[in-house]
Amino acid sequence: MFTPLVALLAILPAFVNAQSPVWGQCGGQGWTGATTCASGSVCTVSNPYYSQCLPSTGNGGGGGGGGGTTTSSTVSQPGQPTSTSSSPTTSSTPAAGNPFAGHNIYLTPFYAAEVAAAAANISDATTKAKALSVAKIPTFTWFDTVSKVPDLGTYLADASAQGKSSGTPMIVQIVVYDLPDRDCAALASNGEFSIANNGQANYFNYIDQLVAQIKKFPDVRVIAVIEPDSLANLVTNLNVQKCSNAQTTYLACVTYALQQLNKLGNVYSYLDAGHAGWLGWPANLTPAAQLFASLFKSAGSPNMVRGLATNVANYNALSASSPDPITQGNSNYDEIHYINALAPALQSSGFPAHFIVDQGRSGVQNIRQQWGDWCNVKGSGFGTRPTTNTGSSLIDSIVWVKPGGECDGTSNSSSPRYDSHCGLSDADQPAPEAGTWFQEFFVTLVTKANPPL
Ligand code: BGC
Repeated sequence: MFTPLVALLAILPAFVNAQSPVWGQCGGQGWTGATTCASGSVCTVSNPYYSQCLPSTGNGGGGGGGGGTTTSSTVSQPGQPTSTSSSPTTSSTPAAGNPFAGHNIYLTPFYAAEVAAAAANISDATTKAKALSVAKIPTFTWFDTVSKVPDLGTYLADASAQGKSSGTPMIVQIVVYDLPDRDCAALASNGEFSIANNGQANYFNYIDQLVAQIKKFPDVRVIAVIEPDSLANLVTNLNVQKCSNAQTTYLACVTYALQQLNKLGNVYSYLDAGHAGWLGWPANLTPAAQLFASLFKSAGSPNMVRGLATNVANYNALSASSPDPITQGNSNYDEIHYINALAPALQSSGFPAHFIVDQGRSGVQNIRQQWGDWCNVKGSGFGTRPTTNTGSSLIDSIVWVKPGGECDGTSNSSSPRYDSHCGLSDADQPAPEAGTWFQEFFVTLVTKANPPL
C-alpha cells in the first residue's frame, strides 16, 4: 500500500505542471498530452479533434466568434461611384454587373479577434503594428460547422447597421463549407457530416439555417464561395473511392445550396474551381467546364450564380512574373492564364464566366517543391490586397478567402486528420489542426507580405 502511494506522489507533480503553451493543443480525440493551458490562455474546443489554448486576454482569439472591431473596408473600385443615399439600397438585384461595386465589405469580428490576439503575442513593435493592420483587410468567414451559423446572423445585423449609418450598403463574405464526406481526396479538412450517417439531410438543414439567417437582412449583400475543392475533386479524383462514393451527394448538396441561396435574391454565389495547378491543366479544362455548366443547368440556371472562385486557400500568383519551375508542362502557370483558358469553354456552355481569385497568401512565389503542395507552405507571405481593380474584365475582384493565420492541416501524424502533405519538407511545422490558429505561420505571412504591410 505504501509503495504505490509514494509512486503516485512522485508522478503527481508531472501532471500538475504539464501545461500546453499558448496556441498549443490541450485536447481532442486521441490526445494524451496536457489538458491545461499556460497562464493567460484558456483551453477552447475547436472541433472534436482539437482543443487549443487560446489567449484569454484582449479579444480572445478564435473559438467563440465574438469580440473585436466591427468596422468596414472599401475595396478600390475605379469608376464605381458609391451610394450617397442616407439608407442603403436593397441588394435584391439580378446578377448583372460586378457585385462588389458600390459596396463596402464587412470586417468579420472573428478574424479581427484572432489577429488581435496574435498581435498581442508579438513583441517586436514594427511586426506587431503590421500584424494589427491585417484586421482591416476583408477576408471571408468560413461556416465549416453548423454550430457557427448563428454567428452569421450577428455579422449580418452588424453589417446592416453599418450600411444604414454610412449610407453605403454592405457585403458580408462567406464560405459555405460543410459537405458530408468533405475533403474526399485528403484528410486534413474532413468535416462533421458523413454520407453514411444522414449526411445529405444534415447538409440540407445546414443550408436551411444559413438561409434563415440571411433572410432576415435583405439589405446586406452576401458573396458566397461554394464548397472549396468539392467539384474539382469530382473532375480529377473519382479514382479516390471516397470521392466517387460522394459524387451523387456532392452534386445534390451543391445544387440544393445554389437553389436555396438563389431564392434569397441578395446572395451572389461563386462555385469553387480549384486553381491553375489543378483544373488548369489543359486536359482538365473541358471536363471542368462541362461539370460546372451541367450542374448550373440542372439547378435551373440560378441567376445569382455569378461565376467561379479560384485559388481558394492556395498559393498561386494571379499573374506570375515568370513561370515557377514546378509548373513546367502546364502553359496555364498562374491564375490569369487558367481563367483565360477556362472562360471560353464556360461561355460556350452557358455558364457565367466571372471570377474572383484568392490572393491572400500568394505574396511570395517559387517556394514550393511541387505544385501539388498545399499545406502551410513555408515562407508564404500575404499577397495582393482585395480590389476590384483586377486588370481583367473576367475577374470581379481579387479577394482574401482563406483567413491568413488559420492552419491548412496538422503536422501531427497521429491525428485522425493528418494528411501527409502537412508533413512535407516545404510545409511549416509543427502545425495545429486545420482552421485553428498557427501563430508562427501568421508571423511569417506578416513579415513576408508582398506588397509589404
Ligand atoms: C479548415 C476549416 C477552416 C478553413 C479556413 C479549412 O482548411 O478545414 O476548418 O474554417 O480552412 O481557415
